[in-house]
Amino acid sequence: MTAVKTASPLAHQARQASSTGAAWSLDRCVIDEEAQLRRTSLAIAGVMLGMMASASIAQDTGIGSDAYTAACAVCHGSDGKGGGEFADILTVKPPDLTVLRANNDGVFPYLDVFQVVDGRTTIRAHGTSAMPIWGNTFKQEIGESAGPFGSELLVRARITALVDYIESIQQ
Ligand code: HEC
Repeated sequence: MTAVKTASPLAHQARQASSTGAAWSLDRCVIDEEAQLRRTSLAIAGVMLGMMASASIAQDTGIGSDAYTAACAVCHGSDGKGGGEFADILTVKPPDLTVLRANNDGVFPYLDVFQVVDGRTTIRAHGTSAMPIWGNTFKQEIGESAGPFGSELLVRARITALVDYIESIQQ
């Protein structure tokens, strides 16, 4: 066990103790150093997980842009500025999604946008808007395959990817 070879004062003390016959002290020291090693490994694992997480966030922006093209571009336009094919036949014009930050004092209103897109908890849920309630649509598409809790997480992950994408196209 290499950890014992380190020149920590504790190890030194323990070796001295063991040469005087107090072996329990050395054992304790090994355990201490093992714990430290484990903490270090955990920290390394944590950093690696963090790296993996940011890689998957980068991927999510791709998912968001694909989902946007599939579900939103028809009204909001492929560039997000509101000129989709359906725009002319809607009584309420689809808003320009690239100015949400500019219209909110330079801060992208992430949570508001999330809730508007989800639509299940906003007033729109009572239903007059031309903007679909995506929370319901995604929930239906995903179904209960991941269990009720897991499915809800997948719905939110999809909305998060969309909102990340919208944030990325702010002017
Ligand atoms: C059928 C047309 C249509 C589709 C498809 C559509 N929207 Fe909308 N959207 C609208 C309209 C109309 C409004 C404005 C009226 C309203 O908010 O109810 C709107 C409003 C919004 C707003 C609020 C903007 C603001 O100024 O506050 C966001 C954000 C938004 N849509 C995102 C999306 C996203 C993301 C998708 C795809 C998942 C999507 N929309 C798909 C028609 C659409």
